[in-house]
Amino acid sequence: MPEITVRAKSKTYPVYINEFALTDVKEQWTKSLAKYSHVFVLTDEHVANLHKAKLDAVLADLPVVTYYVAPNGEEAKTFRVYEDVMTKMIETGLDRKAVLIAFGGGVIGDLGGFVAATYMRGIPFYQVPTTVLAHDSAVGGKVAINHPLGKNMIGNFYQPEAVIYDTQFFATLPEREMRSGFAEMIKHALISDHTLLTALMDTFTEPKDFYTKDLTPFLQRGIEIKANIVAQDETEQGVRAYLNFGHTFGHALEAYGNFGKWLHGEAITYGMIYALTMSETVYGLDFDLATFTTWLERLGYNTTFDATVPFSNILENMRHDKKTTFNEISMVLLEEIGKPVIFKAEDELIFDTYKSVMRNGGDLFESNSRGNDNRK
Ligand SMILES: NC(=O)c1ccc[n+]([C@@H]2O[C@H](COP(=O)([O-])OP(=O)(O)OC[C@H]3O[C@@H](n4cnc5c(N)ncnc54)[C@H](O)[C@@H]3O)[C@@H](O)[C@H]2O)c1
Ligand SMILES: [Zn+2]
Repeated sequence: MPEITVRAKSKTYPVYINEFALTDVKEQWTKSLAKYSHVFVLTDEHVANLHKAKLDAVLADLPVVTYYVAPNGEEAKTFRVYEDVMTKMIETGLDRKAVLIAFGGGVIGDLGGFVAATYMRGIPFYQVPTTVLAHDSAVGGKVAINHPLGKNMIGNFYQPEAVIYDTQFFATLPEREMRSGFAEMIKHALISDHTLLTALMDTFTEPKDFYTKDLTPFLQRGIEIKANIVAQDETEQGVRAYLNFGHTFGHALEAYGNFGKWLHGEAITYGMIYALTMSETVYGLDFDLATFTTWLERLGYNTTFDATVPFSNILENMRHDKKTTFNEISMVLLEEIGKPVIFKAEDELIFDTYKSVMRNGGDLFESNSRGNDNRK
C-alpha cells in the first residue's frame, strides 16, 4: 500500500493511502490501539450514518470504545461543540492514556486534533479522513476551531500518530464536497508543479471524473508536496505559508459567509483566482487564467465573484488573517507556477485586484473599470 512518511520536527508518522487502507492496517493498528486505556472516536452525523459500521468492524476487539457524534460541517468547529466533546470525555472518565480517532472530513480532523492537543494537555490521536479535502487537512498537524471573528483562530500544531486514508469513503461524498476537496489538490499543483497541474487538467474534465478516475496518485502527490513543506517548516515560520495560497482572500470570504455560504474549497477557488490575478499584476505571472477558469467552470466550480460582497468587509477579514502582521496583509503570490512568494500587499492593490475579479455579468478579464466599486 502506498505509504508516505511525514517528517515533522516534532514527530515522524506514516500516511497510509489506498482503497483498502483500513483493512490493510487493521491488525497492526488495533495492536497499537490496545495499549491505550480508552479509544474515543470523534465523528459527525453523516460519517456515522454512512460509515460507522466499517470502523466498528476494525475496532470490534477493543474493550472500550466511545463515540462522539458532532454536528455536520463547520458548526462542529465552535466553542460550544469543543466544550461539549470535552465534557463527554471527562464524564466518560478518559485519562491521559486514552487515544482519540478523528473519523471524518477536515472539520472533524481539525476539531479532533485540537481536542486531542488540549485534553489533559494532550493525548495521542489518529486521523482517519473521509473526504478528498482531508488529504490536505489530515496531514501536517494544524488543528483548530473557529472564532466568530475568524477561521481557525484558536488552535495548535499537533501531529497525529498516523493517517489512515481509505479512499473507499469517497464513494458517498457529494459532488460539491468532491469539488471542494479537489480545490486543495489544484492548490498543491499551482504552488509546486506545473506538470501536476497539466495532468490534473488533462485527467479531470467533467464532474463525473471525480468518481470514475483514480484520484489516489494525485492525492499522494498532494500529500507529498505538503509533507515536504511541513518537513522544512512545521510551525509556519517561513515556507509553510505557501500552503496558504488562495487562503487569505478565501478565508475572508468564508468569514463573510459565516462559514456556511461557501464550502472551504469553493472559497479558496475564488481566493486562488484572486491571488493569480494579483500575481499577474505584481510579477507579470505568465499563466493562461482564462483557460484555467474555463476548466474550473467545466468541473462545476462557480468562478463568478459575488458582487454584493462589500469590499470593506473582505478587507477587514483579511486583516484578521493570521498571516497579517503589523497591519500589513501577506499574500502568497506566484512568480511562476510552482514558484510561490510572500508579498506584503497594500490596501490599494487589494482593492484594485478586487475590482478586477468582479465580473458582475461582464467578463472577468476585461478592464478593471468594469468591476463594481463596493467600497463603502
Ligand atoms: N488543518 C489543515 O491543515 C486544514 C487544511 C485545509 C482545510 N482545513 C479545514 O478543513 C475543513 C473542511 O474540510 P472538509 O471539506 O473535509 O469538511 P467536512 O469535514 O465538513 O466534510 C464535508 C461534508 O462531507 C460530509 N462527509 C464527510 N465524509 C463523507 C463521506 N465519506 N461521505 C459523505 N459525506 C461525508 C461531512 O459530514 C460534511 O457534511 C475546514 O474547516 C478547513 O478549515 C484544515
Ligand atoms: Zn485549505
